[in-house]
Amino acid sequence: MLIAQLSDIHVRPKGRLYKDVVDSNRMLVAAIEHLHGLDRRPDLVVVTGDLVDDGHPDEYSHAVELLDRLTIPFLVIPGNHDQRDNFRAAFADHRYLPPQGPLHYCVDDHPVRILALDTCPQGKHHGHVDADGLAWLQSTLAANPHKPTLVLMHHPPFVSGIPYMDRFRYFDANPLAEVLRAHSNIEAVLCGHVHRAMVRRWAGTIVAACPSTTTEIALQLDPGAEPRSYLGPPACMLHLWDPQHGLVSHTSYIGAYPGPYRFF
Ligand SMILES: [Fe+2]
Ligand SMILES: [Fe+2]
Repeated sequence: MLIAQLSDIHVRPKGRLYKDVVDSNRMLVAAIEHLHGLDRRPDLVVVTGDLVDDGHPDEYSHAVELLDRLTIPFLVIPGNHDQRDNFRAAFADHRYLPPQGPLHYCVDDHPVRILALDTCPQGKHHGHVDADGLAWLQSTLAANPHKPTLVLMHHPPFVSGIPYMDRFRYFDANPLAEVLRAHSNIEAVLCGHVHRAMVRRWAGTIVAACPSTTTEIALQLDPGAEPRSYLGPPACMLHLWDPQHGLVSHTSYIGAYPGPYRFF
């Protein structure tokens, strides 16, 4: 099974730019064309939050219009820039989304089980899952404790070292880590939010953060660094699973680059 991950697509209303400078809408179209042009067609696409920038219905209608260009089935989770009610209304035909409350869900139609955690307290930019959410996670994991499982969540549950992102990190991750550490079938936790590729060992599994299809947040590790972002090479991730070899996660850059060249 091949799972493609897009993250932080930050769709704007038609004709509007992200941060007034970047055409995130056009970049999402490029990301979709990139997935359609891969030599192996993904079986599923997961979009790990920040689907829009302001949470307004006109952004969501445009996000749905663009994402519906995908010829591959896709799942969505919210990020801190999403507005839960507008998100739910926009994706009303996505039957896996719960009709009320946080957008936690489980999709068990594939060789890999997918659990999505809504880490977004409404009106805040940091991440957190409350006790009810952790209880849902615990019971959902316990219901199928041997099937290979991926957990999707927008906020990476660790300190990145990038000071302006860590102010909006997932707070108090230890209770979540305890739930996950008790299960040995979690292949990986897939996140977004930081607009950069990162990987970390955590809670007995691997956490991978996916780059954005639009801007790259600056890699600055000085605690006093000022927030910056760049137009770097946009990217997505490709998670290749098979029961014999397990999961391998690739970063796949979007766009045209020189090559191919012979290397033997
Ligand atoms: Fe984002
Ligand atoms: Fe975010």
